[in-house]
Amino acid sequence: MMPPESVSRGGVTLCLDEYFEPRPPIDVPVLRYRIEVAGQTVGELRRRLGETSDLRRYFGQIGYEVQPAFRGRGHASMACRQGLAVMQGLGYDEVWITCNPENRASRRVCEKVGAVLVETVDIPAGHVMYQHGIRQKCRYRVRV
Ligand SMILES: CC(C)(COP(=O)(O)OP(=O)(O)OC[C@H]1O[C@@H](n2cnc3c(N)ncnc32)[C@H](O)[C@@H]1OP(=O)(O)O)[C@@H](O)C(=O)NCCC(=O)NCCS
Repeated sequence: MMPPESVSRGGVTLCLDEYFEPRPPIDVPVLRYRIEVAGQTVGELRRRLGETSDLRRYFGQIGYEVQPAFRGRGHASMACRQGLAVMQGLGYDEVWITCNPENRASRRVCEKVGAVLVETVDIPAGHVMYQHGIRQKCRYRVRV
C-alpha cells in the first residue's frame, strides 16, 4: 500500500518530499516529509521504513526536526501525530521513537503524542551511534 502524498490536521501539513534508498548508517529506506504551516516549510519528518531491531531499538521509526524559529508552537507534535496516523493506515499497530536522554523537547513531543517510555538503553560500543558520541537512547513506544 502506498502512503498518502500529503495529510493535514490542525493547520499542519505533512507533504511527502523524497524517498531515500537504504544507506549507512540506516540500512532501510527512508521517506522524508516536509512539515508545512500556512504554506511555509517549518521542518521535516522522516519515516524509516521497516521493523528491524536496529530501528526499534536505536534509530526509531519516526524522526522529526523543526527549524529553530518555529519551535514551541506544537508543530513537531502535530506532525508526529500525523506520521503515526499514516503508519496506522499502513497497518502498523505500534511505532518506536527514540531520543537522546538530554533532548527534553523531543521527549516532550513523545509524551504529547501518547508514546510511553519503555526503557533507556546503552548504545553498544561497536554501534555507529556510539562512534558519533551517543551513549544512550530513550525508547518510546506508541500504540497506534
Ligand atoms: C524536538 C523538536 C522537533 C521539537 O519541535 P517543536 O515544534 O518545538 O515541538 P512541539 O512544540 O510540538 O513540542 C515541544 C515541547 O517540548 C517542550 N520543550 C522544549 N524545550 C524544552 C526543554 N528544554 N525542556 C523541557 N521541555 C521543553 C515545549 O515546551 C513543548 O512542550 P509543551 O507543548 O508541553 O509546552 C525541535 O526542538 C527540534 O527540531 N530539535 C532538533 C532536532 C531534534 O532533536 N529532533 C528529534 C530527534 S529524536
